[in-house]
Amino acid sequence: MFETLYRQVNKQVLAPYFKSCLDVDGVILDAGCGWGDLASHLNLSHLFCIDVAFEQLVKGRRLGAIGSCVQSDLSHLPFETETFDTIICANVLHYTGFSGLQELYRVTKTNGCMLLAFLERSEYTRRSIDLAISLGLFPPFMREVPLFDISDFHRVGITIEDSVTVIGFPPWFTVSRDVSRRGLVVYVLRKTPQKPRITPCPTELLPAEVI
Ligand SMILES: C[S@@+](CC[C@H](N)C(=O)[O-])C[C@H]1O[C@@H](n2cnc3c(N)ncnc32)[C@H](O)[C@@H]1O
Repeated sequence: MFETLYRQVNKQVLAPYFKSCLDVDGVILDAGCGWGDLASHLNLSHLFCIDVAFEQLVKGRRLGAIGSCVQSDLSHLPFETETFDTIICANVLHYTGFSGLQELYRVTKTNGCMLLAFLERSEYTRRSIDLAISLGLFPPFMREVPLFDISDFHRVGITIEDSVTVIGFPPWFTVSRDVSRRGLVVYVLRKTPQKPRITPCPTELLPAEVI
């Protein structure tokens, strides 16, 4: 049931939305790709995939949904800083918590883009998860996931270019521009150049001719 649910959301909402903002040139990482359900809707040629579950990667390769891939934990990626032009990460960050977001930020190139869909922390999200568990739509472990709020990400050099929430009930989903209640939120983040920090030098330390 859980897999059917996220496949419906991928097909109806995330794939069309991601396609509308994806720059297909450049190197793209699908972080937490699973067996490649979302990737299979996107038809990207320069896609690299990671997932912590080896059997998911094997399945994805067998189905032809993913190509180059490596088994890895999203919170400890085996890539150099600033490797990818675009990151796609759907339905994963609520498992890793904030450390996953920090790691994705690290491997994104300056001026690169992160397309993220995750359950964002709020009272509404918690109540929705509890309801989904009681209806048998979510497995019970979802009650324990380490939710965070994008505003926890106080970082110089990040711009939120767009955000929407996924609304609806199985089997029908769409997006809303009202992000106030949160739930499953989709963000388009741009890693903008960091401004150098200028620390004023005490005047007594400056050479006399400068003063
Ligand atoms: C709901 S599936 C989403 C798959 C894919 N992103 C999609 O939307 O089609 C969640 C995936 O996240 C992976 N995952 C969970 N925790 C992870 C972690 N710490 N590092 C990497 N992948 C993780 C799981 O193995 C699973 O394949």
